[in-house]
Amino acid sequence: MFSRLARPSQIIFVARKHFSTSSKNDSKVAVLGAAGGIGQPLSLLLKQSPLISHLSLYDIAHTPGVAADLSHIETRPKVTGHMGDEQLADCVKDADLVLIPAGVPRKPGMTRDDLFNTNASIVANLIDSCAQNCPKAMIGIITNPVNSTVPIASEVLKLRGVYDKNRVFGVTTLDVVRSNTFIAEAKGLDVNKVFCPVIGGHSGITIVPVISQCSPSVSFPQDQRAAISVRIQNAGTEVVEAKAGAGSATLSMAYAAAEFANSLLEAMNGTEGKVQCAFVASDETDAKYFATPVLLGKNGVEKNLGIGHLLDYERKLVTAAMDELKSNIEKGEEFVAKQF
Ligand code: NAI
Repeated sequence: MFSRLARPSQIIFVARKHFSTSSKNDSKVAVLGAAGGIGQPLSLLLKQSPLISHLSLYDIAHTPGVAADLSHIETRPKVTGHMGDEQLADCVKDADLVLIPAGVPRKPGMTRDDLFNTNASIVANLIDSCAQNCPKAMIGIITNPVNSTVPIASEVLKLRGVYDKNRVFGVTTLDVVRSNTFIAEAKGLDVNKVFCPVIGGHSGITIVPVISQCSPSVSFPQDQRAAISVRIQNAGTEVVEAKAGAGSATLSMAYAAAEFANSLLEAMNGTEGKVQCAFVASDETDAKYFATPVLLGKNGVEKNLGIGHLLDYERKLVTAAMDELKSNIEKGEEFVAKQF
C-alpha cells in the first residue's frame, strides 16, 4: 500500500492505492463542474470511496442526471445533484473537501493561460460561495490556468477573511502520474513502485519534473533526461492534440484528482505519511505559490517537504520557469483586486 521513497534528507511514504478501507470517514465532498469531462469520471471514482459519506455534485447543467445515475451504484456515499446558482450554497454547505474542475478546457493551439478570461471568474464565484458556506473546507483546484486560479481562490478567501494557506491546493497530481508512467515505460519498471516529484507550476515550462529524486532511483543520459522532461511538460498538449478539438485530459485527470483527494481524505482522517505534490502557497522560491511534495495532515498541508537537491539541469528548468510562474500568479491576484 505504501511505496518508500529514499530522498536526500528524509524517507517519506507515499500512498499508491486509491481507496483504503483501513479508515472510516464521514466526509462530505463537493465536486463543482461535476457534469464535465473531468467531473463525471472523478465523481464515479469518488463514489467508490468508503471515506466519503456524501458526494455533492454541482454544475450549471446536467447535474440531476449525473447524480441520479451515480446514486444507483451500490457504494457508501450518498449522492446529491445541484444545478444553477441558486443551488450552489446547498451543494457546498459544510463540505470537508471541495474539488473544482469547472470551466472550459483547451483546444489545439491554446495555452492554459488562454483560458484565463473565462475560468477566472468561474473559480472566483465558486470560491466565494465556499467562503460563505464551507469556510473550513479543503479546496482542490483543477481548473486551468492553475498557476492563476489558485492565487485567485486565495485572494477571494482572504477578502472574505477565511483564508488558510494550508487548505488551498492546486491539483498538479497529473504531472506526477504522467512522470511515473513515462519513467516506468522508459526503464521497464513496475509503475506502481515509481514516484517522481514534479515541482514548479502547472503549465508548459513551469512544470519541472525532478527525475533525479525519482524513487526508485533511475539514471538517464542527459539527452534522454531532457527528452522525458520536455515530454512531461508537454503531455497535456499531447492529449489536447490527440483529442483534436474535443477537449483536454479528462480520464487521466479524474484518476489523478481521485488519487489526490483520497490521500488528503485519509490524512484528514488521521492516516500519517500521506504525501502529494501540489501547487501551494510557498516560501521555497520568490514565487508566492510553488508546487512541491507536501506532507498532508488533518489540517491540510502539515509540512512542505521542499524542493530538495536538484541537478544543474533541473535547477535551470526552475530558473526558466520563474518569470512565467510569477507573472501567472500576479495576473490572478490582479484579477481579484480589480474585478472582484
Ligand atoms: P468540460 O468542459 O468537459 O467540463 C467543465 C464543466 O464545468 C462543464 O460541465 C460545465 O458545465 C461546467 N461549468 C462551467 N461553468 C461553470 C460554473 N460557473 N459553475 C460550475 N460548473 C461550471 O471541461 P473538462 O475537460 O472537465 O476540464 C475542466 C477544467 O479542468 C479545464 O479548465 C481544464 O483546463 C482543467 N484541467 C486541469 C488539469 C490539471 O492537471 N489541473 C488537467 C486537465 C484539465
